[in-house]
Amino acid sequence: MADADAAKMRQLLEGMRAAFFRGDNAMEYARSFLGRDDNLLIATQIAYDLQAGSYVKLARANPEGKARWVSQIADLLSPHLQESGGSVLEVGVGEATTLSGVLAHLSLPQISAFGFDISWSRCAHGLGWLKQMGQCAELFVADLFHIPLADSSIDIVYTSHSLEPNGGRELEAIRELLRVARRFVVLIEPIYELGSAAAQARMRSHGYVRNLKKSAEDLGCVILDYRLLDYCFNPLNPSGVLLLEKLHEQNPSQTVWRCPLTHAPLDFIEGVFAARETGLIYPIVGGIPLLCRNNAILASSYGTKISES
Ligand SMILES: C[S@@+](CC[C@H](N)C(=O)[O-])C[C@H]1O[C@@H](n2cnc3c(N)ncnc32)[C@H](O)[C@@H]1O
Repeated sequence: MADADAAKMRQLLEGMRAAFFRGDNAMEYARSFLGRDDNLLIATQIAYDLQAGSYVKLARANPEGKARWVSQIADLLSPHLQESGGSVLEVGVGEATTLSGVLAHLSLPQISAFGFDISWSRCAHGLGWLKQMGQCAELFVADLFHIPLADSSIDIVYTSHSLEPNGGRELEAIRELLRVARRFVVLIEPIYELGSAAAQARMRSHGYVRNLKKSAEDLGCVILDYRLLDYCFNPLNPSGVLLLEKLHEQNPSQTVWRCPLTHAPLDFIEGVFAARETGLIYPIVGGIPLLCRNNAILASSYGTKISES
């Protein structure tokens, strides 16, 4: 978890939990408790972790809606994937209900799928959902501002409403996604500028992202598509697409996993991810690698023979 004063952290956790179990908006509670208009990462992490399990329930309750949603995304990705497959990463994968539907629609046997989320509980539900669907993807806990993957290591990096709560950090987010992508970044996010006045007011009050297109332009991106999508779950949260092509296609990096603090290569050694060059290791809990910066453990002796005499 992010650093915070212990007493304040406890109050935040207890307050957000109480708000959630009362049926109130936990993020709204956090913004008011912290006296901020934006959403701190810790608040996003707590709020989404509390909701874990809800997306699997939704996917079961509204299979038609889910099918329309994922087919829209798959149709955007498929022209940019080769028949031979390739790799895709869903940033802020939640419970993998979107990723699983997208993979089913793409139906490419050779695809390598990755997904990460700031919430461990959501990844855990995601692993369960993928297992039920008979699908396979590497799920891990990470922060989208410090992705533990090498530069240009994933063909297509996409989002499905995960930049959404990170209002004010649009440029940083797009820059990090572009770093990891080899060819394309596909943002499926609420588009403030194309929304109605009511949608814009709601997005402002929730601390949601704005100016995504302007941020991409400021980064010198080639924009291939920018529009609202035909289908969205909530017109007050108008889903759109911003499709970015990486200017100079890069050769894929050899080692995919990287330390989110130092970018040193990470190897899977004796049940953890370890950076031999720095002595930092990252644990794996319940089969899910924890790859946020604050999950790092300095353990230079890990994996070496320790004498018991
Ligand atoms: C609206 S949900 C969408 C989940 C999923 N993409 C889907 O389509 O079902 C947004 C997700 O983004 C994740 N998220 C938000 N900010 C994040 C960050 N900085 N790093 C990683 N995940 C983040 C949240 O934990 C949450 O699971």
